[in-house]
Amino acid sequence: MTATWTLDSQVFKDNIKHVMQGQPVMAVVKNNAYHYGLDFAVEAFMSAGIDTFSTTVLHEAVRVRELAPDATVFLMNPSTEFDVLKANSIHMTLPSLDFYMTHQKDLAGINVHLEFENLLHRSGFKTFDEMKQVIELNQEQGEEHQMKIVGIWTHFGYADEFEVPDYDIEKEAWLNGLEDMLTLYHFDYIHAQNSASFVRDGLFDQHTHARPGIILYGSRPYSSLSTDVTVQSLTVSANVIQIRTLEAGESAGYSFAYTADKRSRIAVIDIGYGDGILRTRSKHDCVINGRRYPIRALMMSHLFVEVDEAVKPGDTVILYSNDIRIDEHTFKGVGANSEQLSALNHHSLKKEII
Ligand SMILES: Cc1ncc(COP(=O)(O)O)c(C=O)c1O
Repeated sequence: MTATWTLDSQVFKDNIKHVMQGQPVMAVVKNNAYHYGLDFAVEAFMSAGIDTFSTTVLHEAVRVRELAPDATVFLMNPSTEFDVLKANSIHMTLPSLDFYMTHQKDLAGINVHLEFENLLHRSGFKTFDEMKQVIELNQEQGEEHQMKIVGIWTHFGYADEFEVPDYDIEKEAWLNGLEDMLTLYHFDYIHAQNSASFVRDGLFDQHTHARPGIILYGSRPYSSLSTDVTVQSLTVSANVIQIRTLEAGESAGYSFAYTADKRSRIAVIDIGYGDGILRTRSKHDCVINGRRYPIRALMMSHLFVEVDEAVKPGDTVILYSNDIRIDEHTFKGVGANSEQLSALNHHSLKKEII
């Protein structure tokens, strides 16, 4: 008996097409494809017809290139390993005027996408005028010294927010600036929308790709969406290894983690925060034999769950599945979808792809 991370590959693949809704998608595969596994995810996305990928680190971009020789691979963080970028035909963000000025020579021959900073303030050109300046400076170079400006992009910081006007503000700034840029220059790649923006608005006019991550991996970006929008193909399960009885007033777990208010049956489960279950997850339920039971304490390698007479040693305990989803817990405040996914420990959990 071992706690297990199980991925249903057919469900994952079927869900990709369902999420894409027939639109062109640049799949975000950063952080080991949201911890689903880069190799698995790239193969699955390709089988669904996706041929454009983005990540934040160069070694992942290089791996995508190996897996997908004909794909467009876009590096969302700047890198100064220009030789590697060139050798692997990796497209890269151009994050500022300053970056261009500093690396002008080395950028020759590299495919870049101009990045607009907008309200996230993480990276990108402050203004579209600065972008125009770079286009002009680049055109003034001899052809062999020019970088190839093939794309333009931004990232929204507020597409998951409904209570504040900031998504509308950043959207308007981007769409107006883009319209102006398009009167001057043709871009082969125009992309802006994460999962939330794509589901809220559909693919914007003139955009060549949406750029979703989390929704491709089976979690909803915001809570008012129906669960039908995306299906979770991942199951995290564990086992009842013992049943203990606590009398009223007795405590179990370190430092009085749980004190019984009545005679209670406590199931000891073989999974804990060392396996990557977030601490806040222990405020909620798990599923045993199709019924939800409350988690009472979380330790490094164990959970306590208060159960009834129906639960026996050897029973399977579901922490996450499509019936008790990661996004359900995100909306209960457990932590972002990607935070829980990233935390899951692939060294201590048994990993199965079926
Ligand atoms: C630049 C960029 N684009 C797209 C995404 C995808 O976002 P989401 O997972 O919300 O779809 C991310 C994720 O953080 C990102 O950093």
